[in-house]
Order: sequence, then structure tokens, then C-alpha cells
Amino acid sequence: MIDVRAFSVGPIQENAYIVRSSPQAKGALMIDPGEEPGRLLEAAKALGAEVEAILITHCHFDHIGAVAPIAEATGAPVYCPEIEVGVLADITKWTMPGFGPFESWQAEHTVKGGERLRLADLDIEVVFTPGHSPGHVTYAIDGALLSGDVLFQGSVGRVDLPGGDWVTLERSIGSLMERYEREAVVYPGHMGVTTLGRELDTNPFLSELRAAAMVRES
Ligand SMILES: [Fe+2]
Repeated sequence: MIDVRAFSVGPIQENAYIVRSSPQAKGALMIDPGEEPGRLLEAAKALGAEVEAILITHCHFDHIGAVAPIAEATGAPVYCPEIEVGVLADITKWTMPGFGPFESWQAEHTVKGGERLRLADLDIEVVFTPGHSPGHVTYAIDGALLSGDVLFQGSVGRVDLPGGDWVTLERSIGSLMERYEREAVVYPGHMGVTTLGRELDTNPFLSELRAAAMVRES
């Protein structure tokens, strides 16, 4: 059973995660460090964890604002969606007025979906899940989904930002539903933890996926 710790950071209350293979493990992933780098580094230290890699689901500023200081402090390589590396590399240009300032970073590695990574003693599947942003990926780790702003408890990622598209997002959510178990725990980029099954049954934005699933089951 993997150990997942959530930290809601910054004014947009984005969820950053520290993920390890067990509560005793030293090696850790830092996922979507969006703000408050000092707090996240302290949290890792308090857990006795060493950040071995920084994974990014997508490059909206609320998810990447603390990437540079954490990469600098830990020396951990950054994995970034391929078609969004330019945002991480020029973060100020993409930050809404009133937020930041944030420091840009050149990602050491890019992902586009379809990769299997072995980091911090964890097997990680990278799944392409665009729709909220054009390069968005989900990290599937031991059956759990670190899914950024794809799917929330009772809601979905917004599609009104540049590169957003509802049909694409719905297809991405559908592909997660088909690929993973109903019991798969979803650790989203905002708000609380949920499961794929719970959202398929109750999420008001997923009525068409729900209808399609009922047809498949009948
Ligand atoms: Fe986002």
C-alpha cells in the first residue's frame, strides 16, 4: 500500500502530494508542488523522506509555482508534460495577475503518456489525459491515480482556459474509467480524495459516461 500525503497550498488551495512506497520509505515523489516550497520541504523532512523526482500533471501556475525552489533544494529531476514544458520554462508569462512571483524551470525529462517510470521504488504509469489543458497527464501508481485537474469529487476540471476542451476531457475521464478499477483512489489537484466508481455513480458532469457504462453492463 503506497503512502500518499496531501498538502493544500497557496491561495487556490492546490493539492501537492508526497508519495512513497510505504510509510517507512525514504525515497519520495513530489507531485504538483504548486506553492509554499518551504512548507513542502519541511513536510518531506519531517517524514524522513528524500525527494527523488518531481512529477507535474499539467503546467497551470497553481500546480508548478514551487517546482523551481524544490528542484533547486533537492536536486530532484523534474518530469513535465512534453507540450507544456514551455510554460514551466516561462512561468511568469502564464501566471494570472495577483499571483506569484514564481521561478521558471527547464524540465529534465518530458512525458506524453504511455511511459512506465521506475522512481523512488515505485512503478508509475503515465496516462495522457488532455482536456483541462492540452498536455495533461495522470500518474497511476499502484492502482491509485494522481490525476491533477481531470476529475474532482462531484466536479471536473474547467475547460475554459487556453487549450481546454470538454469533449476531450470527457474522453480522458472515460479512458481512466475503462482502464482502472472502480475502487481506484483518485488524488485530485483540488479538494478531497474520491474513487472512480463514486464519481461514475454520482458526478453530475458524467451523465453521458454513466449512460454509456450502463449500456455496456446491460
Ligand atoms: Fe489546472
